[in-house]
Amino acid sequence: MKKIVLTVAVVLSICGCSERTEAEKFADELISKMTLREKIGQMSQFVTSTGVVTGPEGEKMNIEQLVKAGEVGSILNITTPEGIEKMQRLAVDSSRLGIPILFGHDIIHGCKVIFPINLACACTWNTEAVKESARIAAAEASAMGIAWTFSPMCDVSADPRWGRVSEGSGEDPYLGAKMSVAMVEGYQGKDLSDSSTILACVKHFVAYGAPEAGRDYNTVDMSERMFRDRYLPPYKAAINAGAGTVMTAFNDFDAIPVSGNRKILKDLLRDELGFDGFVVSDYNSVREMVRHGVAKDEKEAAYKALSAYLDMEMTSGTYLNNVESLIKEGLISEDMINQMCRNILVAKYELGLFDDPFRYGGAERFRKSIYKEKDLEFARAVARESMVLLKNENKVLPLHGIERIALIGPYISCGEAMLGSWIGFGEKDRAVTIEQGLKNRFPGKVTAVKGCDPYQHLNGGMAEAVRAARNADVAVVTLGLPGNISGESASLVTVEIPGVQKELLAAVKATGKPVVLLLVTGRAMALESMENLADAILVVWHPGTMGGTAVADLVSGDFSPSGHLAMSFPRCDGQIPIRYNHKNTGRPSKWKVPPTPTHKFGNKPYSSCYMFTPNTPLYPFGYGLSYTEFEYDRIEVVNPEVAMGENVVIRARVTNVGDSEGVTVAQLYMRDLVASTTRPVRELKGFERVALAPGQSATVEFTLTAEDMAFCREDMQYAQEPGDFKVWVGDSSDASLEGCFTVK
Ligand code: BGC
Repeated sequence: MKKIVLTVAVVLSICGCSERTEAEKFADELISKMTLREKIGQMSQFVTSTGVVTGPEGEKMNIEQLVKAGEVGSILNITTPEGIEKMQRLAVDSSRLGIPILFGHDIIHGCKVIFPINLACACTWNTEAVKESARIAAAEASAMGIAWTFSPMCDVSADPRWGRVSEGSGEDPYLGAKMSVAMVEGYQGKDLSDSSTILACVKHFVAYGAPEAGRDYNTVDMSERMFRDRYLPPYKAAINAGAGTVMTAFNDFDAIPVSGNRKILKDLLRDELGFDGFVVSDYNSVREMVRHGVAKDEKEAAYKALSAYLDMEMTSGTYLNNVESLIKEGLISEDMINQMCRNILVAKYELGLFDDPFRYGGAERFRKSIYKEKDLEFARAVARESMVLLKNENKVLPLHGIERIALIGPYISCGEAMLGSWIGFGEKDRAVTIEQGLKNRFPGKVTAVKGCDPYQHLNGGMAEAVRAARNADVAVVTLGLPGNISGESASLVTVEIPGVQKELLAAVKATGKPVVLLLVTGRAMALESMENLADAILVVWHPGTMGGTAVADLVSGDFSPSGHLAMSFPRCDGQIPIRYNHKNTGRPSKWKVPPTPTHKFGNKPYSSCYMFTPNTPLYPFGYGLSYTEFEYDRIEVVNPEVAMGENVVIRARVTNVGDSEGVTVAQLYMRDLVASTTRPVRELKGFERVALAPGQSATVEFTLTAEDMAFCREDMQYAQEPGDFKVWVGDSSDASLEGCFTVK
């Protein structure tokens, strides 16, 4: 092991301040009274056995004993307010210094009231709604005693094989940054010591969304430039928004596991991004450095994590077991431990835990704070806004004047499929299923049959489904993936709909009845092979507690769909990873429509394309239909020639040219035509939801700043360059209304 002994001067430079805040003074004073063991305890987080266990080998420890000894800084996954209160009482009354425990939990898209999965929330393009849903989640979770959530997940990903795309905001760094900021603001509010706000955690630092082959936990390797342009922005934005904590990723990055990666955790996170909160590892990820093969044992793993300034270790206990000997051997200094312990105590101080360790939680407060009617209504509205209408031939939707609806499919009465992965304390029995939602909205008109299980035939199921469709005016078929086939450790090699479900859809379609497909999913899916079997396709995602009601709101036409994709839907698996913001290459595709395999090839295309499949996705990023139609025109670049550093203002008119009211998401895309490095063919740079009555128009205005135009230049500076730019405004990444400007 290489020796790293830090001096006090270095330590001070890490916190980047000479003036100590009240919180820091308090923490320093407390640290002066603490034993080394107690300090290491603050840097250790343990899990109780009652919650979700995501690692294979959570340390079996007697937590109560450790708490009494003052050797636990944080606990995750206690599942009752009484349990949290009891543990806090033990810490405060029975440990020597009575330092309160910081209770954490994965409150990812709701606590009791479950909102749509995060990917779906991003499809609302409604940052205010996302902020409010995080605020509601914080209000419920804090009432339970939780003061810290492991959210937002800021990992950009263009690979729907990776199950965790459900927890993020999709493929785009700009949209991801906006959503991440909204979540931080929602959780933390304006005052962390307010008893209804909780500490946010930016995860998984860093680049966890780009595992090779879409396989969870797999190696991440990319150029620094790619990383800075495409993956870093959401983490950075969330940190700038004041997120109090950061979680390290499981993966290695440039061949060094992030939990021991000093370049990432110290040079980038602390020194460059100026993060001054505390860093927690992911579940067991410190110990897992042994498996990665960069540490020969847990002691060396602890040493590497400490050397990278990882303040708190989640679950693996290597700090508690090894720090004393690392100090004795002179490999780690106590100053360094003081600094990390201080980061954690400062957070506890700012949360107000030292004023009142019980300010978060209490069984009575919890009962009064959950499932509030207005929060449920809000969740319903968010779910509605998150659903994306991909196709609506012959205006099959909404179901006006329909007398008999055959509701078919494996998820029609499945509460679990409404909630998705990471459901906090949500209850599947509280979730409004699609069957309930439609039956409430269309009393006496719905016949519900499952038809099949997600992956298996049901005896007589197909025949029953076909009968139901024949006896109905329309078949509403609910297909897709179960809730637990998304999220962590749910990677797939295919994102096509399982075979048996396709069979069901084909059988129903063969009846000749109009078919509406409701797609339940936690990821983008490859739909080309079955798209023609449905007249309308509405992606409902895992829509949360109020899912079924929100589905009914849209299917009935009480509201018009307004969600737009935050992730491209590929045609087939082979196109993955797929993103709208790809580079042009030196040989852009020659083919809009490629030849079929029967084509006699005189010449190969010798351009960047597939032999028989277009490069384009089936449904692009930003895309989403409404029951009405919108037209974009009159683009105006207000100042088409600007100097470096100046803003560019772009306006366009949007008109509702259909016959019902609706909401469109106006999107601004930009292309830097010639730069010192290759730039994406399009990049999202602004968006706005616009509600319009039939015939009504509005002007949308976007301001492009120098920062919006900045990228990682050839010289590795993150800044803009002069040159010519194109812009487009419209309702998807395919927008055709074009303008241009020049930066001199
Ligand atoms: C996940 C994290 C999560 C943690 C605690 C890990 O397996 O990767 O996202 O916050 O468990 O539950």
